[in-house]
Amino acid sequence: MALIPLSLARRLRRPLQPLRHLCGNGWLREADADFFLRLIHPVLRLNRIQARVEARRWVAEDMLALTLSCNGNALGWRAGQHVQLHLQQDGVRHARSYSLTAVQPDGRIELAIKRQPGGRMSNALLDQVAVGQVLELAPAFGELKWPDDERAVMLVAAGSGITPLLGLLRDALARGFSAPVTLLHQVRWQAQRAFVEELQALAARHRNLHLRWALSAENGERINATDLAQAPGAHLLGCGPQGFVEQLRQWWLAAERGGSLQLESFTPLRALTVRAADELRLGFARSHQQVAGNGVQSLLQQAEDHGLRPAHGCRQGICASCTCTLLAGTVRDLRSGELFAEPGQPIRLCVSAPHGDVEIDL
Ligand code: FES
Repeated sequence: MALIPLSLARRLRRPLQPLRHLCGNGWLREADADFFLRLIHPVLRLNRIQARVEARRWVAEDMLALTLSCNGNALGWRAGQHVQLHLQQDGVRHARSYSLTAVQPDGRIELAIKRQPGGRMSNALLDQVAVGQVLELAPAFGELKWPDDERAVMLVAAGSGITPLLGLLRDALARGFSAPVTLLHQVRWQAQRAFVEELQALAARHRNLHLRWALSAENGERINATDLAQAPGAHLLGCGPQGFVEQLRQWWLAAERGGSLQLESFTPLRALTVRAADELRLGFARSHQQVAGNGVQSLLQQAEDHGLRPAHGCRQGICASCTCTLLAGTVRDLRSGELFAEPGQPIRLCVSAPHGDVEIDL
């Protein structure tokens, strides 16, 4: 039960500053403050981000859009970014990242969640989370953004890669972006065309928006080089599984269109084609550990395998929360194969593998 409306609870963020000061100085425990704040409103917290589920809407046969109202701690979020959602199941706390398809000034956000075969958390969110339930989120992250100039844009997605692109598209059209926009979306079946009615309505209202779907299982269609070559675009934003995104990158580099390329992948990185090197030495300087490692797995994975708990979020090289300093040696970016060997260089542990012996500030 709430003593005040959520709109007022959101506005309490600033007046709660003295309490944050007390907690920061160790005179009050944040957990105690949160205990009393949640009596005022179930989503009110000192620093943590909590949100109430306002609505559930199926936007494809396997994708649900959740509208959430966040407390005042969700600051500076943009559509197209991702947030981590936490869910307690059988006493275990799970976390997964989902794209923000909308961010409203009044604290409402929309997340789109795709059903994953065997995916415990996504299936629980789709089947069990109810309107009125309170969920915990982590700060938003992600660097995809709409290009700054008024030249044509290509949006290319596979599967749930549509979700960050839709968030950016909605905002750009609402701001009056008038250059041509081509959205190509590859899905397996017709019924998986997420947000299809809304997209068609947008295309009817905005003559500069062109839509095309490729149905890979139903018609054997895949977005190919011809589709890409036919679409006007000085900028390409792409999102999908790693292999799909890699093909987009190669096509874009070969096409030499100039402009800008922004890509995001949402699947775990493929096993490297690089052969597992002979045993390597991994040095975790702050933890005073020297351990045996390999040149295949990410440094994040290998650190965890040796009992370390580095900060991390997306595990896909997007959120930067696993950034750490390279002290010595060479690492390889698992996405591009690029090598980095500059001591003092920040590296993202989740997408970096050792390329020989390395020492990192962890
Ligand atoms: S965990 Fe997000 S960039 Fe590494």
